[in-house]
Amino acid sequence: MKHIAKRAGVSLGTVSNVINNTTPVKENLRRKVAEAIQELQYHPSRLAQGFRRNQTTILGMIIPDITNPFFPAVVRGVEDVAYQHSYRLMLCNADNDPSKEIEYLKELRSYRMAGLILIPSIMSEINALTDLEVDDVPVVCIDRRPTKWKGDSVTVNNAKGTEEATCYLLEMGHRSIAIITGPLNLASAIGRLDGFRTAMRSHEVIVNPEYIQEGRFDRASGYEKMKVLLSRRSLPTAVIAGNDLIALGALAAIREAGLNCPDDISIIGFDDLEISEFTNPPLTTVAQPGYQMGAKGVGLLLQRLKSSDPKPENVILMPELKVRHSASPPKR
Ligand code: RIB
Repeated sequence: MKHIAKRAGVSLGTVSNVINNTTPVKENLRRKVAEAIQELQYHPSRLAQGFRRNQTTILGMIIPDITNPFFPAVVRGVEDVAYQHSYRLMLCNADNDPSKEIEYLKELRSYRMAGLILIPSIMSEINALTDLEVDDVPVVCIDRRPTKWKGDSVTVNNAKGTEEATCYLLEMGHRSIAIITGPLNLASAIGRLDGFRTAMRSHEVIVNPEYIQEGRFDRASGYEKMKVLLSRRSLPTAVIAGNDLIALGALAAIREAGLNCPDDISIIGFDDLEISEFTNPPLTTVAQPGYQMGAKGVGLLLQRLKSSDPKPENVILMPELKVRHSASPPKR
């Protein structure tokens, strides 16, 4: 700024008023400053401007696992809406490491972020908004709403999704149905297990406790838990997978055991990843609107930035069963 003031023959304050558009400046002085900026190829630091105003146009987003193809769609929804409203996204991947999640939260705070979009990690220690009272920066929780969360959130009706998927299996004749859940400290995994139980109860089918296996929302746990189910004396004729990655792991274990999906064991997933229509067989799954979740989440945040309405919103979107070829009536 000093070099611009010298070059334009004006005071530092005049340069700052022109750059920050704070106080009106005479046209001839404004032109001199603009010419000096051009000649010196100066680019104002948006961060420095933000720090001066004690708030930048940065939105922070913390996701649990960047290697899980479900999350990029959510991030895309956030980024598109943020960009349209001249906010820029600072994306942090917690790698499902709770201490890294807290570390990122502190760092984002130091960047004076305007708001935070959070998808909690599997063992997240962020259990309530109070953990996040960050200089009254608005926070929205997407996808996995911690039990004590009191702020804005956008989730899907996880229970309805697996209830519909399980009823689909029951109505085609399955009775020995298992479930490989996500981590049962996450609301999304708990909701899906609840939906499974509701469907089985509504059809008066007893759930075999051995047929409830807890996974980790990844392929490895799908493979591992499917092997456990395959080691049981009586094999299930169908499995509900807590997400599509679990379903992919289960399909690998079924194939390795010399069995066929869906002839020997039907599989239904949850998420509807891009890859899910290209698996062998193409996966029947519960599609959840990841992009809309992200877009709606940042929309709530922007609303929060404009109004001080204390009433939190908990938006629940609807998932939809996508029938493909990995589930068919039982052969046995
Ligand atoms: O695949 C990751 C899972 O974790 C998704 O089902 C999403 O809902 C999140 O909870």
